[in-house]
Amino acid sequence: MSESNTGIESSMQENRLFSPPAGFAEKAWISSREQYETMYRQSIDEPEVFWGNAANELHWFEKWTTVLDWKVPDARWFVGAKTNMAYNCLDHQIAQGRGNKTAILYEGEPLQSDGQPQLRHITFAQLRDDVGRFANGLKKLGVKKGDRVTIYLPMIPEAAVAMLACARIGASHSVIFGGFSSQAIVDRVADAKSTIIITADGGNRRGQVVPLKANVDEALKSTDLVRKVIILKHTGNAVGWTEGRDVAWSDVIAGQSTDCLAEPMDSEDPLFVLYTSGSTGKPKGIVHTTGGYMVGTYLTSKYVFDLHENDVYWCTADVGWITGHSYVVYGPLANGATTVMYEGAPNHPDFSRFWAMVERHKVSVFYTAPTAIRAFMKAGRELVDKHDLSSLRLLGSVGEPINPEAWMWYREVIGHDKCPIVDTWWQTETGMIMITPLAGVTPTKPGTATLPFFGVDAAIVDRDGTELGPNQGGLLVIRKPWPSMLRGIFNDPDRYVKQYWSDVPGVYFTGDGARRDGDGYFWIMGRVDDVINVSGHRLGTAEIESALVSHDSVAEAAVVGMPHEMKGQGIAAFVVLKTGKLPSEELKKALMGVVTKSIGALARPDQIRFTETLPKTRSGKIMRRLLKEVASGNEIKGDTTTLEDFSVLAKLKEKDEG
Ligand code: WT7
Repeated sequence: MSESNTGIESSMQENRLFSPPAGFAEKAWISSREQYETMYRQSIDEPEVFWGNAANELHWFEKWTTVLDWKVPDARWFVGAKTNMAYNCLDHQIAQGRGNKTAILYEGEPLQSDGQPQLRHITFAQLRDDVGRFANGLKKLGVKKGDRVTIYLPMIPEAAVAMLACARIGASHSVIFGGFSSQAIVDRVADAKSTIIITADGGNRRGQVVPLKANVDEALKSTDLVRKVIILKHTGNAVGWTEGRDVAWSDVIAGQSTDCLAEPMDSEDPLFVLYTSGSTGKPKGIVHTTGGYMVGTYLTSKYVFDLHENDVYWCTADVGWITGHSYVVYGPLANGATTVMYEGAPNHPDFSRFWAMVERHKVSVFYTAPTAIRAFMKAGRELVDKHDLSSLRLLGSVGEPINPEAWMWYREVIGHDKCPIVDTWWQTETGMIMITPLAGVTPTKPGTATLPFFGVDAAIVDRDGTELGPNQGGLLVIRKPWPSMLRGIFNDPDRYVKQYWSDVPGVYFTGDGARRDGDGYFWIMGRVDDVINVSGHRLGTAEIESALVSHDSVAEAAVVGMPHEMKGQGIAAFVVLKTGKLPSEELKKALMGVVTKSIGALARPDQIRFTETLPKTRSGKIMRRLLKEVASGNEIKGDTTTLEDFSVLAKLKEKDEG
């Protein structure tokens, strides 16, 4: 293994190779290596032909004049075309005879008195009506094309209804994950200048009620931008009510027609904004537009999950993340697939819940995250083996590199050695899956996302943009535009250029380090910036640091990632206290609380270490590599009153970090 000027070194070796299961290819959309190669070549050599053909499988009010207009770093896809994402997910499906097919199959978390969960089967026709009624209600509240609407809901069908209703009338939704705190709502509402919030009284999670409406009320003490809050009655808990501002979902739809014109959207009109963490303290609003995002999520859903008419497809992600946008709601519905939504936790009432659901609903395609797989492994295979998983035919993984041990367990225990595994690499910014096996044709190896999807020109380069050879660790970049790429950061064009188009000249830089092996397979090695990946979710270290220093005992803080058995990466916080403040268990708890309050429980540090000073280079840069070593190497001191002392270590290490 050699090292390039990126300083990324790879040491992992994995030689197991699994061919696609016999017979899978015959019924698959992509059924031979030759077909894959022909299509891939066309997608790279003649992207306009390839993507134009894909787009022709969808519905357009007006067709494009040009497939792609590209000038680094701005892409316009299907220029001049008019379409509507909600129309494609609903009306277009009904027109193809799917009116009575289940679009959303919902299962609630609580078990009722008969021991069974609440189920809802919502057909495409019903969903279209629900969306129409709610969209008309939004219009009546004054929501217009181009507005931003904040959605803060649990994983229930109404979340999809709200998203599709926005899409139908041309408002951009900004979905906030229900696990985020009230401060996160304040920041996102302010950045998006959103005047409407759609929420629920509460959500069900691990037997508890998450007080969504109360979080919104708390947030709205700090901003007066929001003029209407729509509240769905879901858990039935008592909520506060602000007259004039708060309005019940049931009143929004009362008396509304189910018919609502699907706004003919320009292909490049925004569809949504979704906030994600970066290397600064401020989350960025990733903007996706209509036509390209629709085509990208449609085609990847079709080919990667090999969706067919009778599939029951379940992606376990929350709609608050991009995975929920692209692969719970838009991609599957645009394919006319049945998409499963489960509201609760994987371990309620115990870790067999997912497998009970696979059995109950005869799930055929299942897409989840490595962190969940590791949790199931730990809970033990008995919880899996008591269920009939014979309906499964394809398994997917997303969110972080999947460790080979988890991959093998997924294959053997869940897939019974007969289901191909697609390890899919992509990002909030890419909108669609970018690197992935195709289940019928790509031989897989545990731990690699394998090869680029059609139209994706991925490469490993050094800082100058020079492509590196096999097994050289470097930066993962994408050299050609793809339809569902982000079109920018909301209200911050400079940051868009700086963040994605500046580190390596002329290409999109993903922020990930990776290598390609001798077969051309991509092995993702993790982020090269100050972003950490906790349980498949992206967190900026700067955001956590800024939460910590908001506590009045804290002078300075540095947060780094460290290996974590279940979460992939855990969070270690090094904290310098103000003069006169003393470390204590209580203070540790208070600091954990500050982070939970300002971001969410997801960002709660696994370790808080008090230190006299932070190790810095002569130029004043925090020596993060040293902190990472300390965080992952030593046991944390049991006695919290002892301060870490970096002075000697830092001197020794200063040379390597420069
Ligand atoms: C980052 C994107 C894409 C939806 C979920 C996360 C990491 C994602 C994989 C994978 C290795 C992966 C990357 C990427 N990542 N999938 N299959 N193998 N790493 O979306 O929050 O935008 O995070 O997640 O580091 O850059 P996100």
